Amino acid sequence: MLSLTVLLLMTLNPVLTNNLTQEIDVLVFLPKNNSFLFSQARVAPAIRYAQHALTAQFPNFHFSLQLQDSDSVNQAVFALADRSCERKPDLILGPVREYEAAAVVRLASHWNIPVVSAGALAVAFRNKDSEYSHLTRIAPSYMKMAEVFSAMFERFSWRSALLLIEDDMKERDCYFTLEAVYHVMDDYTVKSLTFSEEEPLRSDEILQNIRDTEVVIMCAGADRIREIMLAAHKQQLTNGSYIFFNVDLFNASSYGNGSWKRGDEHDDDARQAYASLNTVTLLRTVKPEYRNFSIEIKKSTDRLGLRDCSDCGNVNMFVEGFHDAMLLYAVALHEAMKNGYSKKNGTEITSHMWNITFEGIAGQVSMDINGDRNGDFSLMAMTNVEAGSYEVVANYFGVNKTFQLMSAFDSKRFMIKGRHEANPELPQKSCELGVSALTGVTVGALLGAVMLIAFYFFRKNYRIIIQRRTHGEEPYCGKHHQLQEDSIKSNSSAA
Ligand SMILES: *[C@@H]1O[C@H](CO)[C@@H](O)[C@H](O)[C@H]1NC(C)=O
Ligand SMILES: *[C@@H]1O[C@H](CO)[C@@H](O)[C@H](O)[C@H]1NC(C)=O
Ligand SMILES: *[C@@H]1O[C@H](CO)[C@@H](O)[C@H](O)[C@H]1NC(C)=O
Ligand SMILES: *[C@@H]1O[C@H](CO)[C@@H](O)[C@H](O)[C@H]1NC(C)=O
Ligand SMILES: *[C@@H]1O[C@H](CO)[C@@H](O)[C@H](O)[C@H]1NC(C)=O
Ligand SMILES: *[C@@H]1O[C@H](CO)[C@@H](O)[C@H](O)[C@H]1NC(C)=O
Ligand SMILES: *[C@@H]1O[C@H](CO)[C@@H](O)[C@H](O)[C@H]1NC(C)=O
Ligand SMILES: *[C@@H]1O[C@H](CO)[C@@H](O)[C@H](O)[C@H]1NC(C)=O
Ligand SMILES: *[C@@H]1O[C@H](CO)[C@@H](O)[C@H](O)[C@H]1NC(C)=O
Repeated sequence: MLSLTVLLLMTLNPVLTNNLTQEIDVLVFLPKNNSFLFSQARVAPAIRYAQHALTAQFPNFHFSLQLQDSDSVNQAVFALADRSCERKPDLILGPVREYEAAAVVRLASHWNIPVVSAGALAVAFRNKDSEYSHLTRIAPSYMKMAEVFSAMFERFSWRSALLLIEDDMKERDCYFTLEAVYHVMDDYTVKSLTFSEEEPLRSDEILQNIRDTEVVIMCAGADRIREIMLAAHKQQLTNGSYIFFNVDLFNASSYGNGSWKRGDEHDDDARQAYASLNTVTLLRTVKPEYRNFSIEIKKSTDRLGLRDCSDCGNVNMFVEGFHDAMLLYAVALHEAMKNGYSKKNGTEITSHMWNITFEGIAGQVSMDINGDRNGDFSLMAMTNVEAGSYEVVANYFGVNKTFQLMSAFDSKRFMIKGRHEANPELPQKSCELGVSALTGVTVGALLGAVMLIAFYFFRKNYRIIIQRRTHGEEPYCGKHHQLQEDSIKSNSSAA
């Protein structure tokens, strides 16, 4: 009986037959600064939790974790280079931020080291043919989020969008977020306005541009969103003729019930304005194991007694993602070894992390054939205007690209009312357009490179870069893809 069990175990788990212990060097790039949702203190407990859980399943995998700061842009890639003089790591987790990730992933791909990150969400990283070949993205990228919009545009027959982007010129999260939306909407008229955090709201320009569009998609801080919604409400643009969205993927406390509330005299207007604002966010799922996980994470961060963040114990997408990264890697390594390859064959291991579905800590994780996670998103809308309360009205599943409509869903909300019959879009030659009134910089695409240059020259008064694309034009004069790559490159080398 016993020997039968052993035999079964041996056939089920061939690694057990090879009882040589595998020492796996894991280099983790995360910032120390706890103002990031993916700081070491927040994420490391999740990685350790996974490490612990894996000892039962893969007893001869010994993971040794080394946490490496990545607080400044080049710190991460220099650390990787220095460390690798002696011994290259077997696995890299992180970095999250785009500019660090670009440098680290390029070097790691060259050295045949697998990288799994819950970040590197920008569009450029989907290019796995060459420089980002060893990158696996365990959290849904911005491109996956953007699918929600292309699916909605198709479903509701919308035709035009205005992207309002608050760009901090540092992390540039909002810029990268809506860049992806821009990217997937080839078939629609899309215009974008970029503004800085510090400048006062240019409401006239913004309102004028809203009038020319059907759908407004915003990514900005919560206060800025409120300002824009109040301004739009004042001009009666929240009467159903325009559809407003904001994208807020990570910070659960900043959307939903009461996000309009500030305790000032504008609360009432804001509540009414937000009645036409929909929020796109990550779909949250829970399963029993997850509760235990989040309790453990909270305990670990409490033990550290972090004082510089109040919500450090909260589990977010990055915390979950890096946990699941460990599971995914272990399974892939196991598969690679079963095929007779060693842990040093990063290409082989990476290939086993793509095009599979596995059970993550919060639910099923499905990786597409390009090594990017399929994303699930929720659409939230105000369902009770008196109370100003929000509910999830629909979910979008990336794996089968379908919507699940909830009982609170009301399709009337997404119908554009009383316009456009007599307002056909005039076709325009896009490459002649796009001159920013203030800077005089001509912009050919939604791009980092030119904007960055503009920023250095006009740091004080840079404000709005307008560029537009009209229906049916050539796919962006062939410049877009290239510039996008440049944006990552030039920024990482400039800093
Ligand atoms: C592997 O297993 C064999 C037999 O079970 C044992 O003799 C050997 O010492 C083990 N090797 C290691 C490295 O544990
Ligand atoms: C942490 O990051 C925030 C936001 O980027 C910054 O304001 C703060 O100075 C940083 N703290 C430290 C200790 O570097
Ligand atoms: C999350 O949102 C809240 C409320 O808007 C804000 O105070 C907080 O700074 C945000 N946190 C992060 C990490 O963005
Ligand atoms: C939760 O996890 C801890 C440690 O990982 C374990 O000891 C405990 O049994 C788990 N509890 C449940 C309910 O699974
Ligand atoms: C790594 O694996 C690939 C197959 O995925 C194989 O073609 C290659 O020869 C292997 N490299 C080494 C050094 O074993
Ligand atoms: C992806 O996986 C499916 C099912 O596991 C398989 O049929 C398909 O051939 C795979 N595609 C690639 C490109 O490997
Ligand atoms: C908002 O409040 C309503 C009613 O109190 C509740 O049903 C809903 O779940 C809440 N939504 C969020 C996101 O908390
Ligand atoms: C799509 O996938 C989700 C999640 O896996 C599932 O709940 C849903 O039923 C699927 N929908 C269709 C139409 O297959
Ligand atoms: C809403 O307001 C806009 C601009 O003031 C106007 O053009 C439109 O006809 C109004 N729509 C409805 C349904 O009242």
